[in-house]
Amino acid sequence: MGAYEPTEIGRIRLVLGSSITIELDVELAGIAPIWRGQLQPIGQVGSIVRIPQGPVTLLATVTLVGISELIETAEVTKDAIHLGDRWIKAQLIGEINALGRFERGISSYPGLDDRVHLASDAELISIFPQADEEHVAIGTLSAAPNIVGAIAIDKLVTRHSAVVGSTGAGKTSAVATLLQRLVRTSWRAANIIVIDPHGEYSAALKNDAKVVKISANSGEFALPCWALPASDVLLALAAVTQTALRQYFADAVIAERRDFAKKASWVVTPMEDINADTPIPYDLRNVWYRLDRPNRQTLSDKAAGKEALTKEGDPKKLESAQFPLPSPTNSPPFKGDSYEKISPVPQRLKRALEDKRLGFFTSPCLDEKADPLPGLLASWLGDDKPVTVLDFSGVPTAVADAAIGGLMSILFDIATRCDETGGIGYPNPLLFVLEEAHRYLRDEPSVEMARVAVNRIAREGRKYGVGLMLISQRPSELPDTALSQVGSMIALRLTNGKDQGTVRAALPDAVAGLAEALPSLRNGEAIISGEASRIPMRMRIDLPDPPPDAQDPSLAPWREAKKSVAAAKAIENWRG
Ligand SMILES: Nc1ncnc2c1ncn2[C@@H]1O[C@H](COP(=O)(O)OP(=O)(O)OP(=O)(O)O)[C@@H](O)[C@H]1O
Ligand SMILES: [Mg+2]
Repeated sequence: MGAYEPTEIGRIRLVLGSSITIELDVELAGIAPIWRGQLQPIGQVGSIVRIPQGPVTLLATVTLVGISELIETAEVTKDAIHLGDRWIKAQLIGEINALGRFERGISSYPGLDDRVHLASDAELISIFPQADEEHVAIGTLSAAPNIVGAIAIDKLVTRHSAVVGSTGAGKTSAVATLLQRLVRTSWRAANIIVIDPHGEYSAALKNDAKVVKISANSGEFALPCWALPASDVLLALAAVTQTALRQYFADAVIAERRDFAKKASWVVTPMEDINADTPIPYDLRNVWYRLDRPNRQTLSDKAAGKEALTKEGDPKKLESAQFPLPSPTNSPPFKGDSYEKISPVPQRLKRALEDKRLGFFTSPCLDEKADPLPGLLASWLGDDKPVTVLDFSGVPTAVADAAIGGLMSILFDIATRCDETGGIGYPNPLLFVLEEAHRYLRDEPSVEMARVAVNRIAREGRKYGVGLMLISQRPSELPDTALSQVGSMIALRLTNGKDQGTVRAALPDAVAGLAEALPSLRNGEAIISGEASRIPMRMRIDLPDPPPDAQDPSLAPWREAKKSVAAAKAIENWRG
């Protein structure tokens, strides 16, 4: 065959495992010839080429483009390519079989001198999944803007995913587009909880989501601390981990849970089975009183154990029981057994109980007639909406961390106990979308609960139908375990070298070369790899409609006459 076909671009010069080097035809004008009226971007990293092999067609994705004198040190140039040759390097990713279906993996390798063609739109459509029952279209391929790029939703949800990119690369917009498309197509009854620390998502999802503002006194959100294990509550509210103090707290919690169980008609748990972690309601003020009193107690008669109480106090009003101070000599009043041994737990609990911003966590939610948890669960899952956006903007970090960690661990605990008869999790999967995920995974006591919950979900979530979508500007700050558990990755522009390295390491070997494109991606352009995409794709994600509240700020006010700053309302909100 003399003249080449119009789609032919070159010939194979080197085959190294699944990596091939293709020498481009000298007669090819540039590396973007026009075919069927369209510019064909052969040299685009991430574009697809095909190598016909009789009845099957091998497919490869371009990872490197070059001219030999520029890279004389690279191993590819040594034998196969002559000086001055233009070449591209590509990774074999799969083949279109004799029946016209795409399959990952290849049955036979190409031979030297085999002809390489650019892939037509029809071929691309057969390789890249289109929107259907299982796939959601979120954008278009960078190398073929008229081809839709869709991702497999079940894999994305149940095998976890990460969305990474430098600030302003388009992470929030990408996730907003994905969620909009998801809930507006076939998944109207999804269970998605978006943890939104900057209040960006409500604008994008207002028609599809229940937006809950966690700010002070909004009363919209309740996450009673009694639903959590006692040690987590102590950690979140008092940052205490010492064993002896934990024991004091656990004993008080058990006593309060049992007291409630005696009164409440709906509790059927046998008394002896109620422990510090059984989610039976209690009033935290009573727990505080149970710890505060012995911490202050002095005795008028040591042998008889008689208290030197002067005033009873009132747990409901957070009034301490009062005792005279112990005598420094061996005379009454004597120190009680636990005198000052429980500090600082009662003091810190009281401070937390007085903090109105923590009301969603510390207010009791006691109901003796009916179990409050099912109603709370429904409210966390958005009632009749597929998405719940928990807007934590303006909420102090410590409070947000407690709420996020608490919610994730309660929901995961419930999911692990649901079976095919119903509930959430395996019978009805749940997805957590976690913005600024690196914040909750750092190694600090204040985020312990969130970190434990995220790690547990990352490890075991698949079995119980609980998925994670971790969004982060700093993938290198995510713990290795988190990224290694992630099945799919949406990597937007990343400028930091260390972050690029982390993403490259997480990409399958065969396409690690695609990571070279990371620093040069446009806004909203991403490399999507892993289980949600049959083969890695470089695509431009569509802008969400309506957009999230995440636009870059405008400097227009800087051009106007200077006005006095009207920040009174913000300052008032700040005071709470
Ligand atoms: N697909 C897109 N096409 C064009 N522009 C986009 C696209 N996605 C996002 N942008 C623009 O990029 C800017 C930043 O987007 P976005 O807030 O989503 O980034 P981000 O990665 O979440 O940033 P941050 O890390 O600071 O939260 C916005 O002004 C937005 O309009
Ligand atoms: Mg963002």
